[in-house]
Amino acid sequence: MIDLLPIRTQRTTDSRLDTLDADHLEFGKLFSDHMFVVDFHDGEWQDAQIVPYGDMTVSPANSALHYGQAIFEGMKAYPQADGGVALFRPLDNWARFNTSAERMCMPPIPEELFMQGLRELIRLDSGWVPTGPGGALYIRPFMFATDGFIGVRPSESYRLMIFTCPVGLYYNKPLRVRFEQKYARSVEGGAGFAKNAGNYGAAMYPTKLAQQEGYNQLIWTDASEHRFVEESGTMNAIFVIDGRVVTPALSTSILDGVTRRSVLALARDMGLTVEERKVSSVEVMEALAAGKLEEAFGAGTAATIAPICTIGYEGHDYDLPVVGPNAFSKRVGAALDAIRSGEGADVHNWMVQV
Ligand code: COI
Repeated sequence: MIDLLPIRTQRTTDSRLDTLDADHLEFGKLFSDHMFVVDFHDGEWQDAQIVPYGDMTVSPANSALHYGQAIFEGMKAYPQADGGVALFRPLDNWARFNTSAERMCMPPIPEELFMQGLRELIRLDSGWVPTGPGGALYIRPFMFATDGFIGVRPSESYRLMIFTCPVGLYYNKPLRVRFEQKYARSVEGGAGFAKNAGNYGAAMYPTKLAQQEGYNQLIWTDASEHRFVEESGTMNAIFVIDGRVVTPALSTSILDGVTRRSVLALARDMGLTVEERKVSSVEVMEALAAGKLEEAFGAGTAATIAPICTIGYEGHDYDLPVVGPNAFSKRVGAALDAIRSGEGADVHNWMVQV
C-alpha cells in the first residue's frame, strides 16, 4: 500500500499569481501555480507529489494518445464569505471518476488519496480562487495511460493529475442550440455515461458544423432514431414544460451530471414535480408551439446553468419565451450560488471545506 502522507511538495519559485485578472477570465486558459501528480505502476499508486504547473514528458506510444485511454472530471471550489474555500460535492466527482475508470479499464483511485491531493493542492493555490460574480476555481482531475506500448490492451501504468484554473462565467448570454439528427454523441451500451476523453473529441466535428450555422451548441439525440434528447453540448439538458421539470432519464449514453443531480434535488425541495424520462424532440417542439415550454437550459459544472433562447429544428429556428426573475432556472441558479458561497443553508451537506 502507498504511504499517503505526506505528499511531496515542491513549491514554485516563480509564482504567476500576479497575472490573474479576475475580471477577464477566459475558461481554461490560465492555470494556477501547482499541479498534483501520482503514478500507478506495479499494481499500486506511488510517488504522490505536488509540483509547479508545467509541461511533462510521456511516452509517445502511450495508449491515451493512440486509443483514448484517458478520463477526466470537472469540479469547482468556491470562495467563502469567511475567506475560506469550499468544494462543491467533491465525492460525487471522485465516485464518477472511478466509474469512468472502470469503463476504460483503468485503476480506481482511493478516496483518501484523491481528496488529500485535492485539498493540499487547493490550499497551496488558494490565492487563485477568484472572487466576484461567477468566479470559481475550476478543477480538472484526469488520468491517462502511460505504458510505452501500442498493442491494443489496457495499459499497466497510469498517471493521475489535478490542475486548476480560475474561471468566470462560461457563457455570457443565452444559447442558440439545434437538435442534432445525423451525428450521435454516444450510443446505448457505449461509454457516454463515462467522462472519457473520446466522448468530447468525437463531439467536436458535429458541434463545429452547428457553430458554422450560427448555433452555440447541439442538443444531442439518441443514436438509433434521433428522436430522444440526450444532452446539450457538454451539459445535461433540462426543460420546464407546463410547470414540471423534465429531463432525460440517465442511461449508458448520458452523463450523470453533478449539476443535473443538484438541480433536480433543489427542484424537489421547491415542491416542483420532476420527471426523469424519455423526452422527444417532437414533445419539446410541440410544447413550444403550444406555449407550454417555459424554459430550457443546460446544466453542467463549467457552465452551471446555461439558459437556451433559441432551438433549431428541421431547418427552422424557434425562440423560447424570455424568462423573468422568477423562472425556475433563475431561482435554482441563485439557490446553487447561495449554497456555494456559504450564504445559503446547505441542507444536503454538499459543501466540503478545503
Ligand atoms: C464540465 O462542465 O466540467 C464539462 O465537462 C465541460 C468541460 C468539458 C468544459
